Amino acid sequence: MCGIIGFAGHSEAAPILLDGLERMEYRGYDSAGIAVRSETKGLQVKKSKGRLQVLSDLTHGGADLEGNLGIGHTRWATHGEPSDVNAHPHVSSNGQIALVHNGIIENYLEIKEHLMKLGVTFKSDTDSEVVAQLLEYHYNECHNMLEAVGRVLRRIEGSYALGIICADYPNALIAARKDAPLLLGYGKGENFIASDVTAILKHTREVSYMDDGEIAVITPDSIDVFDDELVPVTKEHHQVNWDVTAAEKGGYPHFMFKEIMEQPEAIRKTVSPRIKGERVVLDDISMTQEYVKNISRIFIIACGSSYHVGMVSKYNWEKMLRRPVEVVLASEFRYCDPLVDDHTLVIVISQSGETLDTMAAMREAQRRGGRALAIVNVVGSSIARDADDVLYTWAGPEIAVATTKAYSTQLALMDLVGLYLGDLLGTVSDSEYKAILAGIQELPEKMQKVLEKTADIQYFASRYFNHNSIFFIGRNVDYAMGMEGSLKLKEISYIHSEAYASGELKHGTISLIEQGTLVVALGTYAPLFDKAMSNVVEVKARGAEVLALTTDEFREKMEKTADSTISVPSIHPILQPSLGVVPLQLFAYYVALQRGCDIDKPRNLAKSVTVE
Ligand code: G6P
Repeated sequence: MCGIIGFAGHSEAAPILLDGLERMEYRGYDSAGIAVRSETKGLQVKKSKGRLQVLSDLTHGGADLEGNLGIGHTRWATHGEPSDVNAHPHVSSNGQIALVHNGIIENYLEIKEHLMKLGVTFKSDTDSEVVAQLLEYHYNECHNMLEAVGRVLRRIEGSYALGIICADYPNALIAARKDAPLLLGYGKGENFIASDVTAILKHTREVSYMDDGEIAVITPDSIDVFDDELVPVTKEHHQVNWDVTAAEKGGYPHFMFKEIMEQPEAIRKTVSPRIKGERVVLDDISMTQEYVKNISRIFIIACGSSYHVGMVSKYNWEKMLRRPVEVVLASEFRYCDPLVDDHTLVIVISQSGETLDTMAAMREAQRRGGRALAIVNVVGSSIARDADDVLYTWAGPEIAVATTKAYSTQLALMDLVGLYLGDLLGTVSDSEYKAILAGIQELPEKMQKVLEKTADIQYFASRYFNHNSIFFIGRNVDYAMGMEGSLKLKEISYIHSEAYASGELKHGTISLIEQGTLVVALGTYAPLFDKAMSNVVEVKARGAEVLALTTDEFREKMEKTADSTISVPSIHPILQPSLGVVPLQLFAYYVALQRGCDIDKPRNLAKSVTVE
């Protein structure tokens, strides 16, 4: 979704801003813009609809804009269509203030009407322009930029990350945050703001995370942070240890492919530090055994693929913990008057740690007495900071919109946490504990074996890429895994696809099967393999073309009925989806490739959904 970068230093700002925006392209956007200030030329603003390349061409790579202070933005339209005029930065009527905004100003109409009565003319349809105009209004009242920002923040409602520059405020940019991510980057003789650390990683690794209600003044040599009463605040500094090259393609054709291939190593990084002396050790959480013993109910809350991790984990955790586990979409949970009390553990799964619905759902659960344990990839993100406990997946930056390594590391971590809790509860036997833990340790190596078979999957993709509709069927964890396989396929190849629990076929779905319909039949879960086979027979009898996914152990049996078969190594049944999902990711990837789709930046999708 929208991205913000701001720079105050001694170098030319525009090329730095354009580079930062390019590094945030993966988040999804429909227009982009930059504003730069110099002594001689004042405020210069350039913005345009479409890809960043358009903006770069328009400004000759930034060379047309002069100045060492600036802000940049990639916009994902919410209020007002994607257009040049609705793109950020927005400039106030007198042309003296430029501003970029992430989030939504909920009371913008009321403020807009008020300002219009005072004679202010608006150029765009956005809620963000209202903030720029209101700022000019208050600045004219008090002639103090910081005070004016404080007054604006007291009037606006909703969520915001703001970057502001003003012709009258020569060497500083101002930032403010509420319910939208924004961080401060400390360089040498230059400082930054950014909504996403990847935008500034090339320049600095020293950051602090702004908290709600804070305002920051950034100059080349200082960053001063204030609370909403303008009282100075001391911020904790953090070192970001992400590798810059991890956010670059490094010779791979697409980020998605690179991230699929990185999965064994990513899982290793997630699980290895948490296994000591053949035991799961979660030093990073503070839950006591007494608390765990009193858990009566567990919710898993998430969106998108993180929700699908929750679906697999529901099956696995109920087996290991013998406690009810309910998986709820965050957007549903927050408004369903959820039954949460002091004995409810809420697991919140989010790669970005910034998904608005997930954050709001977590806060709602905490307000009702639940304890939140977050599984997050991005260090210092809002969900990570507000959760009662956080476990990081340590997957490194994930750039492709369609998640792969974040999904896999979340799943491996959930298996590890399930095992840890099962042990505390005494619901996992010693032998089972050992078997699952050994399986987790074998995962990277076995996954590597799956990744050696990319050519087979590429062949199947070339055979099936022109289908208009593809169904995934499976039972238990295969059903949950099918949901992820189907989502991957539809999000990057735009083929209509649905995942169904095989047992539900006869209750309606089977009417959609006709001659040649492609069904991806999942039969990796050993305890229910025979049932999976009968469903293959059932759809074949209605004319379906079946691409089956099973384990090496069952391959031969499956091949007798299915038209095409992919197999993965066998592992403990709880862990089987971690291997099974990889061919499904690759299938989606190669199908999208055959169809000429924009794999890393699929249409209409954003990496991190920070609005409702
Ligand atoms: C977006 C992304 C998905 C992701 C979902 C949840 O839709 O495109 O890949 O699964 O958001 O994001 P989160 O960061 O909370 O895991």
